Amino acid sequence: MDRYRPRYHFTSPRNWMNDPNGPFQLNGEYHLFYQHNPSKPEWGDIHWGHAKSLDLVNWTHLPIGMAPSYELGESHCFSGCSVVNDGEVTLFYTSIGEGERNATTGAQQWMARGKDLRTWHKPGINPVLTLDLHGELQIKDWRDPYVWKSEDGWHMLLGGIQEEKGCSFLYQSDDLERWSFKGTFYKGEEWIWECPHLFRFGDKAVLFYSPSGPVRYLSGTLSGDRFIDVEQHGTVDFGGWEGYYASTGFVDERGRRIVHGWIPEGSRGEEFPVSLDWAGALALPRVVDLKPNGALSMIPVPELETLRGESHSFQDISVEPAPTSTGIHSTSFECLLEIDRQAIAASVLTLSVLASACGKEHTDIHLDPASHSITIDRSNASLLPKVHKTPIEGKLPDVDGAERIRLRIFVDQSIVEVFVDDETCLTTRVYPTLEDSTGIQLRTNIGNSVVSSMQIWEMKAAEIRTE
Ligand code: FRU
Repeated sequence: MDRYRPRYHFTSPRNWMNDPNGPFQLNGEYHLFYQHNPSKPEWGDIHWGHAKSLDLVNWTHLPIGMAPSYELGESHCFSGCSVVNDGEVTLFYTSIGEGERNATTGAQQWMARGKDLRTWHKPGINPVLTLDLHGELQIKDWRDPYVWKSEDGWHMLLGGIQEEKGCSFLYQSDDLERWSFKGTFYKGEEWIWECPHLFRFGDKAVLFYSPSGPVRYLSGTLSGDRFIDVEQHGTVDFGGWEGYYASTGFVDERGRRIVHGWIPEGSRGEEFPVSLDWAGALALPRVVDLKPNGALSMIPVPELETLRGESHSFQDISVEPAPTSTGIHSTSFECLLEIDRQAIAASVLTLSVLASACGKEHTDIHLDPASHSITIDRSNASLLPKVHKTPIEGKLPDVDGAERIRLRIFVDQSIVEVFVDDETCLTTRVYPTLEDSTGIQLRTNIGNSVVSSMQIWEMKAAEIRTE
């Protein structure tokens, strides 16, 4: 058994996975695709893996959804989306080949359709969009279609680089087959934008993008073909591109806006003792919403609570500078901490997880309300000499007058995923080596603090089937 393999975060049955692609729900069934190399635990020969679920928690792996059409010059099926139109599902993705069809200057956008939701057929009209659409405009790294419907037809966003800046570009179609270019939707400050996707909330919208760094969002107003009046520019997850990347979203049949994101393997150096036959996972699916001030709220899908097993509750815990063990040992759990701001005052509260009895290994989550920060400190997370130890630092939500901070921490073997209230998320990988790096402890930097309540649930493994 591979100790680092997550038990309730989605993984491919074997070999490599990266971005989530084309999620949708139809007749109650959730479908999810993902960037997948079927033959190696490393990036390459990119197919679309496929899985379905009734609850976004327990998954059935299905046969590979899409393979590159080598005979048509395709060598990878890059990221994309799905559209459900009158019960028919269409996938859009970026087709990459060799030579002239390279990812930087020769990407094409293709579609595939499937009546049985298993086999996806690429119609002869492909490619449906080429770089020629842009006339004189030079766009590089053009990829990752995201399509939605509005009053005036279908809209597509694509990521790319224009004049050395990451951008998203907008296209329109009445029939999903013939597309026209509407212009640059948003020009970013970063050097690249990948995987742009958008949720609408009336005339407001939130645009997500992956700029080869932490996934970011912009909330603003949609006016015709333009995205204007940006209200908030926020971070979807502070884990950075090594912790949480290439998100995508969809609206489910209950109208919930759901976001999936990729959790890559962290780098561990060549001494890594286990040769994995898998690589990469997905973050917990998040239900997102728009707050009145333009900030994004994010919570893990409530369906995850079905995995909660044995629970342990603590009230008014007095926390001291010496680490206090909770007496609970687990590598697969959810911990909910409710903290009264007054009661921890100017101190830094630390929850250590995956902590060994000898004190050599521990992953520390530091909550520092006075400086509005939350940090996952990985400096002692692993004895492996070459793992990444950089701290993951997030900003606490602006909570005018809120008395309590609610911290939800999900630990899943080698994944630590943290939600502060419903606004700040941090996701990262850790690779403890000691057998007993399973402890959960609390401490503070100075004096005595009180944690109002702490609840820990053992998390059961998700049920995974293969069809
Ligand atoms: C993001 C990304 C996408 C691309 C895919 C290729 O991780 O680079 O832009 O479509 O991965 O696997």
